[in-house]
Amino acid sequence: MTTNHQEFSQDGYFTHKFETLSALQEIREICESMAKAAFPEQYTSLDNYHLIDIDSKAHDDFQYQVFTRLNDKKLHHQFVNQNLNFFISLFGPDIDIQTKTYIRIARPGKQLDNIGMHRDIDYGNSAYEISLSLPLINQKAGCGLSIIPKSHLFIDQKTQQLNREDVERGDTKNEMGFLYAPKRLTGIKKEQEKCICLPFGSGLGFTLGLIHGQEENTSNMTRWSIDFRVKNSFHPVNKNLKHDYYTRFNQGILTELAKKFYQVNPDEFNLLTNIVN
Ligand SMILES: [Fe+2]
Repeated sequence: MTTNHQEFSQDGYFTHKFETLSALQEIREICESMAKAAFPEQYTSLDNYHLIDIDSKAHDDFQYQVFTRLNDKKLHHQFVNQNLNFFISLFGPDIDIQTKTYIRIARPGKQLDNIGMHRDIDYGNSAYEISLSLPLINQKAGCGLSIIPKSHLFIDQKTQQLNREDVERGDTKNEMGFLYAPKRLTGIKKEQEKCICLPFGSGLGFTLGLIHGQEENTSNMTRWSIDFRVKNSFHPVNKNLKHDYYTRFNQGILTELAKKFYQVNPDEFNLLTNIVN
């Protein structure tokens, strides 16, 4: 199982230090070289990205360019492949990965760079999935994502629907993971939150019933991270989830054998229940 299996089972989240990092390093290098190319006069490092003097449109356009490049290269799938044993220990060999990774660039004090505290199950995911957040920098205190331990067990969690004016349904920011109609969780206290700050190469994973997010980066460095969701191919999904949200990534031998068997024995296939194609 995972390095912190007990913590995951009890608190709904885990942290893990990954062994093979070359795909993640390539993701970081793409971010660095694109920032350098976009802002040659002002760029110094990812940590200090917030010191670049740009308006919100230039920042949003830049973030979308990075998002597009990273997803063209599918390096987050390569990262999973490089660390496959870890993922198999969590999900078994039949694994789906979110087709596109999100790239987060949260500058200090810029609330709109974040999506606030939320649960992914309020936006079309299920509690059978996890999200994995991987920092691209060494995060200092206040820079990381926050979670509320054990909040997947909260009952009757109320939300208040808001409207975010800088995000429209289906626009590029929405595509990058910003919410046009965020559901603010009511009754959450700041002292319940735990900020998980990790070095490059470590990740934070959590069940999608867990409350997580960042209201505001309170450190003096820009938070650069990627995150994507992972699930077992046979686990249920929310009816509203887009059909191309996940990509079938890895298939176990038994699944392969069963598929071949039922191809040539269709009558036997009709006896099955709980089928995921
Ligand atoms: Fe989320």
